[in-house]
Amino acid sequence: MVLDAELKRTSFNNFIADGINLKERIIQLKEEKNAIILAHYYVSNSIKLIADTVGDSLALAQAAKKTEADIILFCGVHFMAETAKILNPSKKVLLPDLQAGCSLADATPADAFALFKQEYPDAVVISYINCSAEIKAMSDIICTSSNAVDIVRKIPAGKKIIFAPDKNLGTYVSKVTGRDLILWDGACTVHENISLQKLNELLEDHPDAEVIAHPECIGGILDKAHFIGSTKALIEYAQTSNAQTLVVATEAGILSDIKQLIPDKNIIPAPSMETNSCACSECPYMKMNTLEKVYNALYYETPEILISSKTHIKAAAALNAMLELS
Ligand code: 13P
Ligand code: SF4
Repeated sequence: MVLDAELKRTSFNNFIADGINLKERIIQLKEEKNAIILAHYYVSNSIKLIADTVGDSLALAQAAKKTEADIILFCGVHFMAETAKILNPSKKVLLPDLQAGCSLADATPADAFALFKQEYPDAVVISYINCSAEIKAMSDIICTSSNAVDIVRKIPAGKKIIFAPDKNLGTYVSKVTGRDLILWDGACTVHENISLQKLNELLEDHPDAEVIAHPECIGGILDKAHFIGSTKALIEYAQTSNAQTLVVATEAGILSDIKQLIPDKNIIPAPSMETNSCACSECPYMKMNTLEKVYNALYYETPEILISSKTHIKAAAALNAMLELS
């Protein structure tokens, strides 16, 4: 047990002990408190190493729903922790940094979305899981990048469909299914930051490379892709591909997972518009998760995700409709 006298201030309201082995203490605290750590592929390796489940949005939602742990510590972003709370409301859900948001969720304010919906009163509302609990509560069914195509295909032909908030995923789903979708104008700034021009230049140097891309990328990038899929699907495809070189058009976090699984292959990040040390596109929100914050969240059991019961009931119906079809 860490004594309060040993603690030093590390942020506005959290303290941490000098010389503490964070990894060991987090593992110890998990046991003491019957907690699990769910981590998205985009967080740092140091966190993935102490996680009970590392997965994409769908796998993490499924893991959150079925866990019997008392505490779910979600190493991802705010909408993911909210999803966990909605699916398993009796659990305490913690997010290491409440500022870990998402450009897609931010692009969809509830009042503006309510007005948008009013324009299409007969439409079924399918919302990508990357949205707030309020938007989920205004939706008929949720989807992730793993199941968006299948869910749209389940809607009877002729029925109007609003698809929110990701216009890039929506455009891709529309192309694959042949369905007209009424799109909300949101986008992931991390995937939109991948440069088509730089990708074309890279492919000139690697003419035999295969491009694999997440459907949150812009259409021009997806047109270059040999395979398009969710984070998990990209990792699985990389293991079956015969190509010696793979160019990966998504957030940089999965590169290490792919490299670990296929160390003999040449894995190159699709270049971002900015020049940075890895030349890749990183989600600043996912990277807000640090071992220090994970430790503090588990030790102090805060910040906790709480959702009003009105929002909860409607959002749970839309999320459970997805899980039943997945
Ligand atoms: P998936 O985990 O469903 O592939 O989504 C990627 C993403 O951007 C998560 O925020
Ligand atoms: Fe949101 Fe994009 Fe970050 Fe995923 S990668 S959390 S969609 S900003």
